[in-house]
Amino acid sequence: MSMKILVTGGAGFIGSAVVRQAIRDGHCIVNVDALTYAACLENVASVTNNPNYTFVHADIRDGGKMSEILAHHQPDVVMHLAAESHVDRSIDGPGAFIDTNVNGTFQLLEAVRKYWEGAGKPEGFRFHHISTDEVYGSLGPTGMFTEDTPYAPNSPYSASKAASDHLVRAWHETYDLPVLLTNCSNNYGPFHFPEKLIPVIILRALAGDDIPIYGNGKNIRDWLYVEDHADALLTVVQNGTIGRTYNIGGENEATNLDIARSICGILDKKRPQPKPYADQIAFVTDRPGHDLRYAIDPARIRTELGWKPSVTLQQGLARTVEWYLENEDWWQALLNREGVGLRLGVKSA
Ligand SMILES: NC(=O)c1ccc[n+]([C@@H]2O[C@H](COP(=O)([O-])OP(=O)(O)OC[C@H]3O[C@@H](n4cnc5c(N)ncnc54)[C@H](O)[C@@H]3O)[C@@H](O)[C@H]2O)c1
Repeated sequence: MSMKILVTGGAGFIGSAVVRQAIRDGHCIVNVDALTYAACLENVASVTNNPNYTFVHADIRDGGKMSEILAHHQPDVVMHLAAESHVDRSIDGPGAFIDTNVNGTFQLLEAVRKYWEGAGKPEGFRFHHISTDEVYGSLGPTGMFTEDTPYAPNSPYSASKAASDHLVRAWHETYDLPVLLTNCSNNYGPFHFPEKLIPVIILRALAGDDIPIYGNGKNIRDWLYVEDHADALLTVVQNGTIGRTYNIGGENEATNLDIARSICGILDKKRPQPKPYADQIAFVTDRPGHDLRYAIDPARIRTELGWKPSVTLQQGLARTVEWYLENEDWWQALLNREGVGLRLGVKSA
């Protein structure tokens, strides 16, 4: 069934994948984004002229503005992705993360609650909060995060996301707001902002620079192709059970070093140079509080909603490298944004 979806953060990496897929699926989109340093309207250029697409430049921290937008556009559901999202930036400047991820989510929740109550609490309405597996903290060599894993965030980013998750839960318990929560593992794919690990590896390799790997490179993440995440989110918002959390993962665990080596191997084939790209890998000072391992047990979303990822890590990495090779104009334009290319989040001595 076609819905009118208000997406926050739809000019970012994952939000734009949701917007593109939702438009393909025949939904109407109202994309609300403050256009921070991490945003890029190019990410949604393919749908900008679609009659089902509207962009609104606004900040979720402005509750009055959020109320106006909700009253004007009357969405059937809200998917909340707007956030400050880079762990290294949260180490250098945690304030922005508290402002947007905690206070912004609070402002949005209040605006949404008033909108939903004012509309007579329509049955189909949902507030879908998009969060991260980082709220669960770090795993040892074994075990997996389930929806019942206690929260133990270790970075200002993950702590701010954990706080926002708690607010969403409380708005459901206290006000009956029909919420859905998803906690997802690390995403990668097209339109990934060039400060994040996988684009950094690709772009440093292509530039002939050192490929920086934090610590010993043994930190493990469970990687999910961004278009699979968008598909999972649209599945949850349509079929999820109110008040429930769904963990979303790719069942693709890999160390950061494995990721770097795989990307180098793909580049060796697609863009050969005299020396293997892996010779450029260089170990650098670790991130403070760097979680060792994340792994998602996706049993709930698989068994209850029948969702599973469509691509393996190797397939997804190959597609991603291909995309960066073919879309140099996109990433070149972002390289001069503030902080991009600098080593951020190193504790001062
Ligand atoms: N990237 C990942 O691997 C990952 C994994 C799991 C969950 N998440 C979550 O998914 C969501 C999207 O992540 P992403 O990687 O696409 O982030 P991103 O940084 O690429 O995009 C965030 C978007 O939110 C917008 N935004 C930021 N502050 C805003 C504000 N105050 N008001 C309105 N818009 C604002 C930005 O302009 C940007 O377009 C986040 O909530 C993040 O915590 C990300």
